[in-house]
Amino acid sequence: MQSIHLASDHTGVDLKTTLAEHLGKMGINVINHGTDSRDSCDYPVLAHKLCAAVEASGELGILICGTGIGVSIAANRHSGIRAALCTTELHARMSRLHNNANVLCLGARVTGVELAKAIVDAFLENSFEGGRHQRRLDMINLPA
Ligand code: RB5
Repeated sequence: MQSIHLASDHTGVDLKTTLAEHLGKMGINVINHGTDSRDSCDYPVLAHKLCAAVEASGELGILICGTGIGVSIAANRHSGIRAALCTTELHARMSRLHNNANVLCLGARVTGVELAKAIVDAFLENSFEGGRHQRRLDMINLPA
């Protein structure tokens, strides 16, 4: 069974819950890294927790904050993470086909529930094309 990692800050709890149900109906095993509280919390903590799990497992992840910007900035500090902040289905499709994104970032204050579900579907239905796109991905990480 395919597993997907989910995490959000306090702004994304409702959307995360809705997406977890959506993924569950698709037969996907959801691994929830929190938060499950609407009390204010710090999005980098959740982003780093989820990214560590995605890097360790090789599975995909979804991160949610208010805009999606904070979690995407934090996630992309991980050398094994290619996080894509998506506001359209096209973003999600291309992030998989060309960028081999392994973390989808969403803004709960930006993207409505039905569009968010469609973005998640597009992210999961597409996979990396490789070829010239792999060469470009190999150029992204700076030398240690
Ligand atoms: C929290 O108010 C908000 O700053 C956070 O969810 C996120 O949008 C940051 O980028």
